[in-house]
Parts: sequence; C-alpha cells; structure tokens
Amino acid sequence: MAVRASNSEFIEAGRLLFARPFNFVKGCVRIADLPAATGVEVAFAGRSNVGKSSLINALTGRTTLARTSNTPGRTQELNIFVSEGSPLTVVDMPGYGFAKAPKPKVMAWTMLIHAYLTGRPNLRRVYLLIDGRHGAKANDLSVMNELDAAAVSYQIVVTKADKPSDIDLDRAISATRAVIAKRPAAHPDIIVTSAEKKTGLDSLRAEIAALLSGPPV
Ligand code: GTP
Ligand code: MG
Repeated sequence: MAVRASNSEFIEAGRLLFARPFNFVKGCVRIADLPAATGVEVAFAGRSNVGKSSLINALTGRTTLARTSNTPGRTQELNIFVSEGSPLTVVDMPGYGFAKAPKPKVMAWTMLIHAYLTGRPNLRRVYLLIDGRHGAKANDLSVMNELDAAAVSYQIVVTKADKPSDIDLDRAISATRAVIAKRPAAHPDIIVTSAEKKTGLDSLRAEIAALLSGPPV
C-alpha cells in the first residue's frame, strides 16, 4: 500500500531515523515502572502472535532486538526501546487474546495494556497490527473503541502480508478499511507489511518520521 502522498517526503527521513541504533531500556510490568513520559512514543499493539516484535525488528534492521516466538504470549511486558539521538521511543506490547501463559499473568498484562493505551501522556500513536490472513477480530474492535473514546491516534498495520493469497489479502484490507471508516481516532490509511519479506517498512518508517516532525498528521 502506498504511503500518503503528503508523506513521501518522509521516506528518506524514516530511513535515516531507523538507521540509528535502538537500545532496549527496560521491560515494564506496571505503569509505575515506565520511564518518564518525554519525547515521542509509539506503541505496537495487537493480538498475540500478530507479529509486533517481528515488525519492530524488521523496522530497526535488527533480528533480535525484540524477542519473537511462534508461541502466542511471547512478549509479557511493555518493552521499551529508545533511538539514539532522536526523541523516539518504541514500545513493544504484550498481545491481547489467546496466549500460552498462566491465566493470572495474562489477566495482569491485559490490564496493563489497557491502562497504558489510554493513559500514557506522550503516546503519540498506536500502531494496531492486524494479521493479513484474519482481518480485525472482536478484541481488535474493542481496543479501537477504547482508543477512539480516549482520543488516542492509531493506525492499522496489516502484518504477514506474505502469507495469504492476493485475493484473501485484498479482502482483509477492504474489510478493515470498512471497520475504520467512521472511527474518529483512526488514521485513514492502512499500511500493509511483511516482516518476513521486508515489505511496507519504508511506508511505516515514513509515518513515524512524520510524527516526529511536528504536530499530529
Ligand atoms: P506476542 O509477543 O506473543 O504477542 O507475539 P508478537 O505479536 O510479538 O508476534 P511475533 O513477532 O513474536 O511473531 C509471531 C510469529 O509470527 C513468529 O513465528 C514470527 O516468525 C511470525 N511472523 C511475524 N511476522 C511475520 C511475517 O511478516 N510473515 C510471516 N510469514 N511470519 C511472520
Ligand atoms: Mg511480541
């Protein structure tokens, strides 16, 4: 999917931004553990196993910055990564929905997800990841409802675009476009990515670079 025409100027800025080193700061299991709310923060949210950690690795060109796994429930903390020499913080979130982890633990991190998404003052945008094979599910819609209600900007990123057939991918994108059409806090454009094939990354980097350049776009 093409980046917004108005953002084409940010492709190079995005490339440069993500060419910088990113460092892991800490994993937070409580809101109180979060670093001071300064700079521009973006968070990667979505169902367990949708590909949040893999996408962060692909964006930063690192294979092991964020830990990934085939088992849903790999990321269990708010993992904070900061870019050297820019005000950008990237947050890899635990997933919501089914996870192979003890129930109390899943409940605790689900509460943490909701508190963070609706209460972080410097959270400029949530990248809400949707699996290209499945489209948006009920729990994705609940999160969208919450973000709309809290007026937190979010943008849909379709993941694993290498997996479905072109027809199925188009169907999932169209359905998702319909889902966000009237949502006040949703960015109108959907970014389609594959961390595996490294596609769509320039567009996503450009969007994040645009966020850093000034007021919300
Ligand atoms: P949790 O932390 O458990 O919520 O998962 P996550 O959303 O961080 O997903 P993660 O990045 O760990 O990836 C889950 C699985 O999907 C791994 O086996 C990845 O290799 C695979 N995966 C991620 N992105 C892609 C992609 O673009 N294409 C394909 N084919 N597989 C992917
Ligand atoms: Mg993860």
